[in-house]
Amino acid sequence: MSELFLNAVTKRFDGTTVLDSVDLTVRSGEFMVLLGPSGCGKSTLLRIIAGLEMPTEGNVVIDGTEVTDVPPRERNLAMVFQSYALYPHLTVAKNIAFPLKTAKVPKQETIATVERVAASLGLTELLDRRPGQLSGGQRQRVALSRAMVRDPGAFLMDEPLSNLDARLRAVTRTELIELHKRVTKTFLYVTHDQVEAMTMADRIALLNKGRVEQVGTPEELYDSPQSVFVASFLGAPPMNLFDADISVEAGQLVATVGEVVVHLGIDAADDGIINARRLTLGIRPERLRLDDRDDHTRPAQPPSGIRLPAVVTLTENLGGDVLLHVTVDSVTLCARMSRVGAARGLGVGSEITLSADTSDLHVFDPENGRRLHWQHPAARPVHPQLSFT
Ligand SMILES: Nc1ncnc2c1ncn2[C@@H]1O[C@H](COP(=O)(O)OP(=O)(O)O)[C@@H](O)[C@H]1O
Ligand SMILES: [Mg+2]
Repeated sequence: MSELFLNAVTKRFDGTTVLDSVDLTVRSGEFMVLLGPSGCGKSTLLRIIAGLEMPTEGNVVIDGTEVTDVPPRERNLAMVFQSYALYPHLTVAKNIAFPLKTAKVPKQETIATVERVAASLGLTELLDRRPGQLSGGQRQRVALSRAMVRDPGAFLMDEPLSNLDARLRAVTRTELIELHKRVTKTFLYVTHDQVEAMTMADRIALLNKGRVEQVGTPEELYDSPQSVFVASFLGAPPMNLFDADISVEAGQLVATVGEVVVHLGIDAADDGIINARRLTLGIRPERLRLDDRDDHTRPAQPPSGIRLPAVVTLTENLGGDVLLHVTVDSVTLCARMSRVGAARGLGVGSEITLSADTSDLHVFDPENGRRLHWQHPAARPVHPQLSFT
């Protein structure tokens, strides 16, 4: 199992900066997903780790040894690409054995290794077939097996599922998670797909325009996004984000959106928020509720709750859930809730009140998009360690 370490890696192509001083540690044995929009530099970063591309500046370190100038085959890494690049005229067994043949491993040892690796990926029955007779998922497992026979310290995978249809992608996702548990190797997995990242990663590194925006567990990125970019990249539908004018009433922040006044329940003296005149506020669609005062089955509204008078402009039926698109003055928001609850019967033009807890509110600096660290008042006296940092 290898630990991968990037120190201030910068890559420029013809003067264009594609990676900008990237620091990253992939811990030994972890499943790290490198996530980001198309063109943000994911493949370039993976190729630099593999040794297929040289960084313009910075270093690549594997297991404590600098390898920036070490050729790819001496780095003990296996790379799996989107196109599996299997040899169509060779059987599955011969495809898997190929790297061992190239390395002149004795025949008996090759056969034993191929059988062991094929069995671990459930390919024993398919060893005599050719790639053309396999499903996409099976081909992918052959490509993985071929990468595994050399017993690499880490697997580097570049969008390996993007050629599969949606159903097979979901199945293969689960297979990869199980595979990682079984082989206990370091995985660095590149994707632009947030669902793959959320479901598979021990940790996600989110890349934006060649810079690392945030590294953390899927829950950390989803629950405490450190920037507007992270907040809007993870989540479907994405987090509602809107700018509001800020004033102070009785020591508490009050947001104004056009004619609508929202009491945020945030202490005006809180660090990081002092003197703010304008803030970018964020709230996830699933954290907005219908405020139904007559519905006694719901818990009473907490005193610090947010209330937003809204008009429904569109409803989208997702089956179990419904998306309510609403306007709050000039701002458009999306709320996600169960279709069978109080949302039933709402349509275009319905006037409603949406509510949320202040602890569900994300606050960002509108100038640079960075998260502002405030602490939810309810979290302070009981659990001082529970902060929003
Ligand atoms: N060999 C190259 N020469 C010039 N530009 C390149 C080269 N490889 C990648 N790029 C550019 O670098 C940027 C990042 O590419 P890439 O790493 O492939 O992004 P991603 O994998 O995140 O989609 C893109 O703008 C791409 O056009
Ligand atoms: Mg790519």
